[in-house]
Amino acid sequence: MQRQHIPEVQAATRSRQVGWRLALGALLLGLIVALLPHAAQAQGAAIFRGADLALGEQLIREHQCAQCHASRVGGDGSSIFRPAGRVNTAGLLRGMVEQCNATLNFQMFPEEVTAVAAVLNRDHYKFTD
Ligand code: HEC
Repeated sequence: MQRQHIPEVQAATRSRQVGWRLALGALLLGLIVALLPHAAQAQGAAIFRGADLALGEQLIREHQCAQCHASRVGGDGSSIFRPAGRVNTAGLLRGMVEQCNATLNFQMFPEEVTAVAAVLNRDHYKFTD
């Protein structure tokens, strides 16, 4: 009587193992898929590669970009950044920062403009090309 049950128990154990393996596989696959966009993002747009992000963050603080934007749109000012709007490529984003630089007379050097735009891209626009 007991013996008859053994293959069933073994089969059940096997199917549990297969179940676990499938679950683990699905989990790993999900993880890879979830991480892929971040890998692309970390790389970012070509024109921002090698940009000095720490410098960009510093310049954004110094020139009080967020304060002025917040006074226009409220909150922390970040809703002024509209990736789906006019500024819809990395090149246009950099151009917009250059335009603010000129209009507001910040006198940033070209690599500083790039650094600022790279930070905005990392935090808000997330353009990859
Ligand atoms: C004196 C106020 C003021 C300051 C300071 C300022 N901005 Fe702006 N900025 C604006 C206004 C107003 C707009 C919206 C213009 C529009 O939509 O026509 C804008 C828009 C932008 C946009 C375009 C947003 C989009 O997606 O359309 C970018 C990028 C930007 N600013 C970057 C900066 C950066 C970087 C700094 C700091 C180095 C800065 N701005 C400082 C007033 C300011």
